Amino acid sequence: MMAKTIVLVSGANRGIGLAIVKALLESAPSDSSNSAPYHVYLGSRDLQKGKDIAAGLPTSHGNTVSAIQLEITSAESVNNAVATVKAESGRLDVLINNAGVNLPTIPDEAVKMSTLYEINVIGASRVTDAFKPLLLTQPAEGEKVGKRIIYVSSSMGSIASRFNPKFAFYSQEYTAYRCTKAALCMLAACHAYDFKDQGITVHAFDPGWAATELGGGDPATIREMGGVDPKVSGFACRDIVEGKRDSESEVLVSINGDTYAW
Ligand SMILES: NC(=O)c1ccc[n+]([C@@H]2O[C@H](COP(=O)([O-])OP(=O)(O)OC[C@H]3O[C@@H](n4cnc5c(N)ncnc54)[C@H](OP(=O)(O)O)[C@@H]3O)[C@@H](O)[C@H]2O)c1
Repeated sequence: MMAKTIVLVSGANRGIGLAIVKALLESAPSDSSNSAPYHVYLGSRDLQKGKDIAAGLPTSHGNTVSAIQLEITSAESVNNAVATVKAESGRLDVLINNAGVNLPTIPDEAVKMSTLYEINVIGASRVTDAFKPLLLTQPAEGEKVGKRIIYVSSSMGSIASRFNPKFAFYSQEYTAYRCTKAALCMLAACHAYDFKDQGITVHAFDPGWAATELGGGDPATIREMGGVDPKVSGFACRDIVEGKRDSESEVLVSINGDTYAW
């Protein structure tokens, strides 16, 4: 039997992370281009919340899910998650660094910058570094599996788009958030270089403008204003996991087949 592809998604108890988990759990191995069946670790800061959500998710085609406690600003939490994945699965095949925040109401710009960098950039870097040994581990038996790291960045982190008056978010500010997502793109570019000879493919991914609670948003209002269902983001991310965007390696890959310059 084909080895399961072991995936971990951070910040997966709601929003885009949860949509990515759901998309993977629906994937059918009969499509030869994909990597199913999956075992998906649903990362959640609140373990009980994660467990309750995981228990209610429909699974099919041999895909499975379990919750894992993961607070990306805590080395202890991240190291415990590594130990759990190692004990249960022996390796990690796909790491999706999705957890992130936008905190536009913090009044002090330096505090806002520091808080957002701690989560959106340093947190993601901490998670990748901690999981590196498991990402470099192949199944004990059978064929080698393709390894991946996906950073959920944002078109707001595209420096090229900041100068484009036609860019949908041109007139919005969000300076601190934009800076962290640009830094996350650079982290993806650095890791694409660092891991290029070690069989790990790295992408930066823009999930589009999705109707979630990011930054205190109200999903219903965002939908009315044109935000997409997070499902769209989830399926686009699954396309990356399943190798459908591999030729687009030096751009920020987005939904609907779109890309952004870094
Ligand atoms: N929504 C959009 O339009 C959009 C566009 C571009 C990029 N993105 C990016 O997509 C990603 C997901 O955002 P979303 O829209 O789904 O937002 P969301 O609904 O607010 O979900 C954010 C997730 O991240 C988790 N999280 C926050 N801080 C964390 C930490 N320190 N450690 C671990 N987990 C943490 C949250 O957990 P709790 O529930 O415990 O708070 C939650 O699960 C983010 O990186 C965001 O920047 C979103």
